[in-house]
Amino acid sequence: MNVIGYIISYESGHNAASYQKKIQKQHIESFCKKNKLNLLEILAEPDESRPDYRPKLVKLLNDAPLKKFSGVVVCNLEKLAKEEDIRKWIISELEKNNITVYSATETSPAKPPEEAAEKSRSIKLKVRDLPSLPEVVTKVTELVQNPKSSAAELSKVISHDSGLTSRVLKLVNSAYYGFPKQISSIQHAVMILGFTTIKGLVLSSSIFRIFSPKSNSALSLDYKKFWKHSLLTAIGSKKVYSKLFFEDDENIFSAAILHDIGKLILDQYDHNNYANAIREAGDQLHPERLLAAEQKHCELTHPAIGSIVAEGWNLPEVLPDVIKYHHNPLESERHQRFTTVVYIGNVISRLVLDRGVFAPEVFDGEVLSSIGVDEGDMAGMYCEIREEACLLEDLESFFK
Ligand SMILES: [Fe+2]
Repeated sequence: MNVIGYIISYESGHNAASYQKKIQKQHIESFCKKNKLNLLEILAEPDESRPDYRPKLVKLLNDAPLKKFSGVVVCNLEKLAKEEDIRKWIISELEKNNITVYSATETSPAKPPEEAAEKSRSIKLKVRDLPSLPEVVTKVTELVQNPKSSAAELSKVISHDSGLTSRVLKLVNSAYYGFPKQISSIQHAVMILGFTTIKGLVLSSSIFRIFSPKSNSALSLDYKKFWKHSLLTAIGSKKVYSKLFFEDDENIFSAAILHDIGKLILDQYDHNNYANAIREAGDQLHPERLLAAEQKHCELTHPAIGSIVAEGWNLPEVLPDVIKYHHNPLESERHQRFTTVVYIGNVISRLVLDRGVFAPEVFDGEVLSSIGVDEGDMAGMYCEIREEACLLEDLESFFK
């Protein structure tokens, strides 16, 4: 995304003003680097600017309709104008041309704070009415977390839910697993699929079934694409985790399959605004564009609302954390390793399903080096996960 930086200092004295502007420049540059924004130029007002004469700001507003850029980055909102009314006016003028104002020292795009808080409150209130998770999910989660539980106990719980039983059998007999003989018992299926996968599938299929598509418009969230991406991210993350750490973890599949759950929540509870966000982002899987558009239209991003809901459902603590930080895993304090693996699974899933070619530049080098891997390792993972994707069509029916 192309952006313009804007700096101004009201400090008196040339040295003080220059120093202030230097600091702002550093903030803007590092914000753009971190968020992978393409900084076209930085417009700097003359030192000790008068509040009533801002030639660079006038240029910025004049250039806006030409749309060479889709964002303006300031160090903080006060740098646009000291007076709140004028700030609001500048932001709304830029918004008319689909240009978002970002504040480099805040984590989210700038919006009048009282409006943002009000909106966030209202979505959180609506989300309170979300249906609770089916009882079978709670039971399966408890059993999987108890090291003493057996395949027989898990099978018994699943067998009590006829819809779930038929979906599990359909899955284990699908081409994805490729077993030569028909498997007709749930206990046999549990042993073949493993506790981990069963739990992830029970959890995700129950959650996804709560939400049915809001509309068939090509311009809003595409549910089929969403399911496919979620499933491949889960399969990919599980593979990446076991390859990197030589072990399996019961939560990685569940965390990965639910990483984008916030998109479903926004689509269900703030549908029109979310359709606008997707339309503006142009791609429901493009991280930077989508996060900025979600913040602009819905005042909340999908990781933020998804983690609130996952916490409300009392899912294992690692899940809300992964959901919250899957686009910026280095910010996770408690589960950085997990979150980084899901970040990798997510990026590779998007490359496989959307682009169809490997692109090393889409990975954040700092994130990869935090777990001791590089872009070269990612190329290998990409090839393996791409092979799994060929069998996905068969698995999709599990979620319908
Ligand atoms: Fe996401």
